[in-house]
Amino acid sequence: MEELKNIPNHVAIILDGNGRWAKEKGMPRNYGHMQGAKAVEDILVDARDIGIKYLTVYAFSTENWSRPEAEVSALMTILRNYLKTSIKKSMKNNVRCRVIGERSLLSADIQKAILELEETTANNTGLTFTIAINYGSRDEITRAVRKVAQKVENGEIKAADITEKMIAENLDTAYMPDPDLMIRTCNEQRISNYLLWQCAYTEFYFTPVAWPDFNKAELLKAVEAYGNRTRKFGGLKTE
Ligand code: IPE
Ligand code: IPE
Ligand code: MG
Repeated sequence: MEELKNIPNHVAIILDGNGRWAKEKGMPRNYGHMQGAKAVEDILVDARDIGIKYLTVYAFSTENWSRPEAEVSALMTILRNYLKTSIKKSMKNNVRCRVIGERSLLSADIQKAILELEETTANNTGLTFTIAINYGSRDEITRAVRKVAQKVENGEIKAADITEKMIAENLDTAYMPDPDLMIRTCNEQRISNYLLWQCAYTEFYFTPVAWPDFNKAELLKAVEAYGNRTRKFGGLKTE
């Protein structure tokens, strides 16, 4: 492989196809989710080795509650285990972990595990790894708008003072730059309520590979494709 150029600073991933991957093997969907969680663990280290600084993965959407109860509960169990083992691994790999999404609807023990993971890894300086859990962009934007509206209601600002920056600062993602590259696996080409505001100028990459099979070689392909694109941000000049 030729030397990589223009490595994306922030890569966001819609990990998709766990269910189909398992079905193809004659296995239950939850087996696919388990293997999917392993793929997340591995891709973290690969992303860091490639030189990516921010990695943001979509683990559970606000719409995913509409899946059968047994699947939702299996996903929560996988999440619990993931959060538990993540602390040690993140400390070893210098990874700072964060979670975006409306966490108040998650069970109390998961909320506690999230806080513990975030606090323990807060000062790590390597990759910033964000997991989107009970995340939906429309929900996130609605919550941000409520916070800004509260300031207007309190008389702290006027409606005319509201800026794009103010909205962005009230999103769950306020601490991270916008994604440079968005990857979605398993042949789906839609955004499914993920980072709508943040992806205004993001490059998209779609692959037929199902998430549990996504590995460093696949990530390199995406990064390489990104490196060969020209980003213009509306103007005539490249960045
Ligand atoms: C992605 O795999 C994981 C989650 C959405 C939690 P899916 O569960 O969506 O797998 P498919 O799309 O049904 O194959
Ligand atoms: C998007 O995948 C959500 C996550 C990856 C967590 P879905 O599989 O739920 O999305 P749709 O329903 O196919 O759009
Ligand atoms: Mg899916």
